[in-house]
Amino acid sequence: MRRAQEAKMQSIRSCIVGGLRVCRRQPPRWTLQPAGPCSWASTRGLDPEVPSGEAKCKGGLEDFHAKLAAGPSLQHFLQDAGAVQETHRLPAEAAEDSAPYLGSSTLADAPRKVYLETYGCQMNVNDTEIAWSILQKNGYLRTSSLEEADVVLLVTCSIREKAEQTIWNRLRYLTALKSKRPRLQAPLRIGILGCMAERLKEKILEREKLVDVVAGPDSYRDLPRLLAVAETGQQAANVLLSLDETYADILPVHTSTSPTSAFVSIMRGCDNMCTYCIVPFTRGRERSRPVASILQEVQALSDQGVKEVTLLGQNVNSYRDTSEAQFLSATPTQLSRGFSSAYKPKQGGLRFADLLDRVSAIDPEMRIRFTSPHPKDFPDEVFQLMKERHNICKHLHLPVQSGSTRILEAMRRGYTREAYLALVHLIRDSLPDVTLSSDVIAGFCGETEDDHRQTLSLLREVGYNTAFIFAYSMREKTRAFHRLQDDVPPEVKQRRLKELMTVFREEASWANAAAVGRVQVVLVESTSKRSALDLCGRNDGNIKVIFPDVEVDDGTGMGSQVRVQPGDYVLVKISSSSSQTLRGTPLRRTTLKGSTAFGGAD
Ligand code: 5AD
Ligand code: SF4
Repeated sequence: MRRAQEAKMQSIRSCIVGGLRVCRRQPPRWTLQPAGPCSWASTRGLDPEVPSGEAKCKGGLEDFHAKLAAGPSLQHFLQDAGAVQETHRLPAEAAEDSAPYLGSSTLADAPRKVYLETYGCQMNVNDTEIAWSILQKNGYLRTSSLEEADVVLLVTCSIREKAEQTIWNRLRYLTALKSKRPRLQAPLRIGILGCMAERLKEKILEREKLVDVVAGPDSYRDLPRLLAVAETGQQAANVLLSLDETYADILPVHTSTSPTSAFVSIMRGCDNMCTYCIVPFTRGRERSRPVASILQEVQALSDQGVKEVTLLGQNVNSYRDTSEAQFLSATPTQLSRGFSSAYKPKQGGLRFADLLDRVSAIDPEMRIRFTSPHPKDFPDEVFQLMKERHNICKHLHLPVQSGSTRILEAMRRGYTREAYLALVHLIRDSLPDVTLSSDVIAGFCGETEDDHRQTLSLLREVGYNTAFIFAYSMREKTRAFHRLQDDVPPEVKQRRLKELMTVFREEASWANAAAVGRVQVVLVESTSKRSALDLCGRNDGNIKVIFPDVEVDDGTGMGSQVRVQPGDYVLVKISSSSSQTLRGTPLRRTTLKGSTAFGGAD
């Protein structure tokens, strides 16, 4: 609600500053007029760093005063904003939203086709769904063909240099495509969204002159306006970060290829400031989506028959909903034992364990997962709840980053090697069949061979089922960039990366071999990519399981046979394993609840 008012005020600011040539007020709707030669005009109010084009424009001041006098007063805007404030916006109602600044001629005559391309993490996939939901409500059509597109939007990632390089290359291709476009056709518009937009706004606009729109992760609501500005031939940018934007009222259009699984965003941003990481700078401060809107989305997914929901956030287990008075208290946050946080301890709010409790109670046949957590935010009640609820998957992503206490300190991770390993033991004691995954960085600033050996030994000691291992990539703005030396040569980083991968794979093979001979509950996802005769699904621990697509007992006790379908649960007896997958024989169809009595849920 506050956001709506803020957006309204931004529109006012933007239009007053750019009002000379961009906006003509026709209450109660804005109509964008083709602009003169002054680019940036409409964006200046949104981005204080964007230079003004006013000095270059002729004869504006008198005209401006005349228009201002004839236009609406501030009260008009505040009245409008007030009306929004009084409405409790639910996803269904949000479908009524429209962009008041879009003139009816902007899209209605010829709907523009948008091609969206996503890079990076699952958060970006979710952001793409949010951006698309907003554009769809504003009359855009979606196309999966680049050739058909009028607008191409790249949802970008900045986490490592390589991720950004991929996008620069893609931009070069797209800008060539744009300049080759026949004159008779409306010009192709190109937009950069997400983390790279946030980090490199000026550089993108200046270096890639053919980019029309730059929108940071908190600016997707502004996309229709930014694109409307772009249609007038100007570049438009909004990279303001917000303290409270969670897109709680935007129902993402789930476009995942899987009809069985969906991701639900529960929080955004990160306050941890690990010294290597750009995320706090590109995605801003941590904020949580109100619990009510999360529950509503999960309920809607359950009604649609979705069988697996993954709660998503940069730091999911730091979740803290302070949107309702009853959640506020002076109770200090409980961290994992032996862990500390980089920021002042937070108090009160509805915490992650409460959210997990409520989400998992919605549908006992729906699996609940979450990613990505920080190891510091695991009070014992999270594990207790995971143990009690058959539908909360016994899989934990526990990013360690390094096995050396010295390096963990340099990274400002808030734990020692010993505290991390103690947490792993505590987890294994509470959840004996848990599967663990991790993120590891090779060759961080100052990492010696001894530090590296400690990471190798930690990988052996924990025996992760899955790991994501990266060579360190120095990012501007981070604390490491300012204070530390990126002193591990690239070839040494690569060698260490390979050694870490080898040890991880060996251990994962052992960890997965422990499943052989056991009966596991598998959620069927699709036909196997390797063979049309096999099906593919995932067990509770998120490990891929392949099994023959044959008739099995339908699980009703009537003796009927069925071929299981995506979205079914099936009991599979595991017969072989590798570092990445399990293979087995399907026994019978089952339900999630029924399989706990059977003892098959691992
Ligand atoms: N270099 C290499 N890897 C990084 N990560 C984050 N920042 C960097 C960086 N600068 C990795 C961390 C994090 C994962 C999402 O990406 O392992 O957990
Ligand atoms: Fe980056 Fe650390 Fe935040 Fe993860 S917890 S997003 S690594 S700063």
